[in-house]
Amino acid sequence: MPMQNICRVLQAEQLTADVFSLLLEAGALARAAKPGQFVNIKCGEGNLLRRPISICDAEGDTLRVVFQAKGEGTRWLAQRRSGDELDVLGPLGHGYDYPETGKVLVVGGGIGVPPMLLAGKRAPGGAVAAVGFRDQSACILLEDFEEANIPVKIASDNGTVGHHGFVDALVREYLTEDKTISAVFACGPRPMLKSVFTAAKEFGVPCFVSMEERMGCGIGACLVCACSVGGHYRHVCKDGPVFNAEEVDW
Ligand SMILES: Cc1cc2nc3c(=O)[nH]c(=O)nc-3n(C[C@H](O)[C@H](O)[C@H](O)COP(=O)(O)OP(=O)(O)OC[C@H]3O[C@@H](n4cnc5c(N)ncnc54)[C@H](O)[C@@H]3O)c2cc1C
Ligand code: FES
Repeated sequence: MPMQNICRVLQAEQLTADVFSLLLEAGALARAAKPGQFVNIKCGEGNLLRRPISICDAEGDTLRVVFQAKGEGTRWLAQRRSGDELDVLGPLGHGYDYPETGKVLVVGGGIGVPPMLLAGKRAPGGAVAAVGFRDQSACILLEDFEEANIPVKIASDNGTVGHHGFVDALVREYLTEDKTISAVFACGPRPMLKSVFTAAKEFGVPCFVSMEERMGCGIGACLVCACSVGGHYRHVCKDGPVFNAEEVDW
């Protein structure tokens, strides 16, 4: 059940030129958070719509979000400081369901990496990660994966760090090396999700993807976030954002 909480900012950090991290005191909202879910944050008095941001981490009463300052809303969010208060609605949406046995391969591209941290940390059978970035300067959260004992392979578009190329090559590498991986969870740009799904399918491993659509209400009431899944329009905010990749109309 989503809750509307006034959350105090405990820590505000800048991770790269345009990516920011906020640690929030979120009480019951943080305790209820599940991997793949998101929160809808009111970004300033002037903005009628809240902005959806994935849950990057949740421990006890604290919740972490990591976001790119893109437009008016996220730029306002990037200016919040320790002690400020935020109006947060969540946890929202249907997140990742873990397989009964085996390890999970979590795959993130760019600003799709943050939700994969919690997805990896909560995996009952353990997790490995593959993350892709534009270049070395865009890398985020690598130390957090390390601290959580989640092995990480990195890819970059220009070869300045890790594998030179796209992250689906790393998915093939992992699935060749490690036969205990029983599911792939991915979040990132749509072309990346499609190529990760194609790679997982080659190995017969189920793949679940987090779809991104522009949102209004975030709770299934306004139809702004409609997306075609299995030939039917579904609400990304309520039925997703995580869907079985097999059912998505790519
Ligand atoms: C379920 C979900 C989870 C998300 N999680 C994160 C996250 O963890 N970190 C993060 O940085 N971003 C995340 N996003 C994207 C984030 O919500 C948008 O970047 C944000 O709403 C932009 O708001 P704005 O006011 O800053 O920009 P606007 O002024 O509204 O738009 C600025 C630019 O961003 C583009 N944009 C706006 N909304 C979206 C969207 N939903 N998807 C793609 N592009 C968009 C616009 O086309 C425009 O080019 C998520 C989106 C969804 C739907
Ligand atoms: S955002 Fe309103 S229905 Fe999904």
